[in-house]
Amino acid sequence: MPLVTTKEMFKKAYEGGYAIGAFNVNNMEIIQGITEAAAEVKAPIVLQVSAGARKYAKHTYLVKLIEAAEADTGLPICLHLDHGDSFELCKSCIDGGFTSVMIDGSKHGFEENIKLTKQVVDYAHERGAVVEGELGRLAGVEDDVNVSDEDSSYTRPAEVEEFVSKTGVDSLAIAIGTSHGAFKFKPGTKPQLRFDILEQVEKLLPGFPIVLHGASSVIPEYVKIINDCGGRLDDAIGIPEDMLRKAASMAVCKINIDSDLRLAMTAGIREYMTKNPGHFDPRQYLTPGRDNIKTLVKAKIVNVLGCDGKA
Ligand code: G3H
Ligand code: 13P
Ligand code: ZN
Repeated sequence: MPLVTTKEMFKKAYEGGYAIGAFNVNNMEIIQGITEAAAEVKAPIVLQVSAGARKYAKHTYLVKLIEAAEADTGLPICLHLDHGDSFELCKSCIDGGFTSVMIDGSKHGFEENIKLTKQVVDYAHERGAVVEGELGRLAGVEDDVNVSDEDSSYTRPAEVEEFVSKTGVDSLAIAIGTSHGAFKFKPGTKPQLRFDILEQVEKLLPGFPIVLHGASSVIPEYVKIINDCGGRLDDAIGIPEDMLRKAASMAVCKINIDSDLRLAMTAGIREYMTKNPGHFDPRQYLTPGRDNIKTLVKAKIVNVLGCDGKA
């Protein structure tokens, strides 16, 4: 099967009250860990590549590795650009085999966001690719850009219908209180999301797929291993899993996870290196990193996203 778009995946996910996992990939071990997990539980999957990942691993390597994962597993896999910030970047990914792109115009004003998003949608749709837009602004770290809490903003439901109809986007990322990275809530505060905003958006756009960024749960087990091995991740707090399950049962069809993968892989590598200080074969320490990713992704699919058995 060639790489697919999210059209079919999202339609079934919306109707079935579950979500598809969108996992960020940067190298072979991460791709293998995710897709081997998805294959074992028969889950469709989105593998997403940020501009930083593309710079790190190179476009061609990532595309070929993902094509290899598809050949190896036979899974429906969508190859998606995460947080595209320009028409040129989206165009280059579509021309180079991506089946889906995100144009993140959330840093622009409403009209400028519409104009840029529509330009990408027109180009993508003519070539059979799909587009995710964003309204509202998440806090946290994306690539080299650090969005402070003050500069973040919730999605305004009053804007979503106009944005979707004027741009023609296939899915919409909204800001309801999640954020990128491993430090999502102030220590001592109760994690909260604005489900009232999601409910309003769902009513205004019935049947339309919504995307949740910044959705890592920052699994305490991995944070503890990293800290026990000399790491310094005090005050790391993620999104509680029951909130993600609730979002998946609503209009959220795609849940983005990167930080949890990073923590799982780093915990595996740090633990191995701490126990085996004399080892220096990358295959030895990358294996527990990849194994942790596989365990994590399987647990996400089965316990949180609910997309097992849907491939
Ligand atoms: O939303 C951002 C993702 O976690 C990607 O991070 O830009 O550092 O690859 P990155
Ligand atoms: P996390 O940092 O919570 O994993 O979010 C990832 C993300 O939104 C990628 O676009
Ligand atoms: Zn994101």
